[in-house]
Amino acid sequence: MSEIRSIGVIGLGAMGAGIAQLAVEAGYDTIGREVSVDLGEAAAGRIGGFLTRKVEKGKLEQADRDAAVARLRVTDDLSDLAGCDLVVEAIVEALEPKQELFAELERLCRPDAILATNTSALSVTEIAAATTRPERVVGMHFFNPAPLMPLVEVVQAELTSPETVDAAAAVGEKLGKVVVRCFDTPGFVVNRVLIPLLNDCIRVLDEARVTPEALDAAMRNGAGWPMGPCTLVDLVGIDVHVHASEALYEKLREPRMAPPPRIVAMKNAGLLGRKSGRGFYSYD
Ligand SMILES: NC(=O)c1ccc[n+]([C@@H]2O[C@H](COP(=O)([O-])OP(=O)(O)OC[C@H]3O[C@@H](n4cnc5c(N)ncnc54)[C@H](O)[C@@H]3O)[C@@H](O)[C@H]2O)c1
Repeated sequence: MSEIRSIGVIGLGAMGAGIAQLAVEAGYDTIGREVSVDLGEAAAGRIGGFLTRKVEKGKLEQADRDAAVARLRVTDDLSDLAGCDLVVEAIVEALEPKQELFAELERLCRPDAILATNTSALSVTEIAAATTRPERVVGMHFFNPAPLMPLVEVVQAELTSPETVDAAAAVGEKLGKVVVRCFDTPGFVVNRVLIPLLNDCIRVLDEARVTPEALDAAMRNGAGWPMGPCTLVDLVGIDVHVHASEALYEKLREPRMAPPPRIVAMKNAGLLGRKSGRGFYSYD
């Protein structure tokens, strides 16, 4: 298998922009695709800003920052990704748009290109089914924020070839990540464990009649968690957590996976955590 030199990232939102930043910092020629040039340029501006802050903190040389920024191109035209060795998809978490995109990528990209999805809770096997070369489709599940969280789960779907898994794992390592390989199962490794656990924590709020502050203090000081569960769910986004819980519940039918009514009501009320200014806590 030829070495991966260029990476395409589709969707430059919270995750895709972080993945593109990692790619340019690691020396890959990177092209990001957004639905409009304005959104693409805004994301490139954010990436440049993050890299500038690294320079200010003494974590990156100015010349390396400039070289990294120069390696990033953004476009609204999917066919600009035709020459990429690896494409990482980070668009909306829904099966149909992802399948449409993978079918389109198969038409555009070289037959030996690797197509990766950053899905959190969808089946990589089902996404790969939209192509005629599922052996080249793999999961690369980064964590939010991608530039800071050390883990990437490299997910082998039903028909992914071992060579594709190896190539994706090698890229993960070159991006400076801890790579954990796993098979395609709902929630992969971390979310399979973490989502029901967080849902239990939220149920305990009402059952044990404790405040979010008290629950967070209990889990930090009694279980050694670096961050309390309510703080974590606020950071992840109440809507993102509810969506992932529902997706896992739909697949596994385990009651612990289902989002507790309290958090569903918060989502419906627009109390989304840090991003909306109010969740379990208030943010100014
Ligand atoms: N946010 C998280 O904590 C997290 C963590 C791990 C994985 N993920 C997964 O990553 C993916 C993206 O999540 P996110 O939080 O970055 O979402 P987001 O809403 O922040 O970003 C998605 C971006 O994709 C763009 N987009 C949509 N359709 C597109 C298309 N066809 N082509 C190009 N761009 C398109 C949107 O304009 C948007 O900017 C999802 O599959 C999600 O499950 C999210």
